[in-house]
Amino acid sequence: MTATIISGKQVSEEIRGSIAGEVRALAAKGVVPGLAVVLVGEDPASQVYVRNKEKACHDLGFYSEVHRLPAETSQADLLALVDRLNRKGDIDGILVQLPLPGHIDEKAVINAIAVDKDVDGFHPVNVGNLVIGDDSLLPCTPAGVIELIKRAGISLSGKHAVVIGRSNIVGKPVSLLLQRENATVTMCHSRTERMAEIARQADVLVVAIGRANFIDASYVKPGAVVIDVGMNRLENGKLAGDVDFESVKEVSGPITPVPGGVGPMTITMLMQNTLIAAKRHHGLV
Ligand code: GUN
Repeated sequence: MTATIISGKQVSEEIRGSIAGEVRALAAKGVVPGLAVVLVGEDPASQVYVRNKEKACHDLGFYSEVHRLPAETSQADLLALVDRLNRKGDIDGILVQLPLPGHIDEKAVINAIAVDKDVDGFHPVNVGNLVIGDDSLLPCTPAGVIELIKRAGISLSGKHAVVIGRSNIVGKPVSLLLQRENATVTMCHSRTERMAEIARQADVLVVAIGRANFIDASYVKPGAVVIDVGMNRLENGKLAGDVDFESVKEVSGPITPVPGGVGPMTITMLMQNTLIAAKRHHGLV
């Protein structure tokens, strides 16, 4: 039997529709959410991401500023820009596109972003609040994974979720969010022994390892939910997930495709974070 496909594109459009509605209501009160995106250098993938973020702002009625800086920009100049954006009244969210050129200390830049404008959810204070379960701006891809699962009508409470990958951007935060939804969470990573055996115990399998088509049907319990966070560019230019979709969909339950799964959710959650930050800045929540 072939599995149900969870369409991130469709869910993303639904959420964007409600964000656009909220933006219109805010506009009537004279509030326009503002996002500043900073891109240093000319990494081709980053250029595409930044253009997509700019387009999302335009489509949803946000104010946006994109600061494109040369690759040689000094750390001091970048920090000065972040400081200026922190103090700018029409900017509610700041995103510095990663990776940064090697001579810049990414941690120093992330730490310089005002906690209440950190719409990536990467600042240590937001990460700490996530760990202890306090209100915080949530990292976009992990928040998108949870939203996709919930909107597909899948209950996480009491389920065994296995997360493959332990990055700060996806694996660690998605594990915490799954736990917050009352799942029982196991984390696997590159040193895990008997990974397929563990993965096969998952009711919900979330994969974020950055290796094209790595997870085949031997990792999947029949009927399990499979969420593929991978975005790997193949030599032929095509995009592939971490999951071998064609073989896995024959055994799994609901599964996300690549492209059109988790990917579209990331920018949508960025827009949602910017909206939340704007409402907080104007005392509307
Ligand atoms: N580069 C790849 N993904 C991301 C992301 O979610 N945020 C930022 N700032 N940079 C990225």
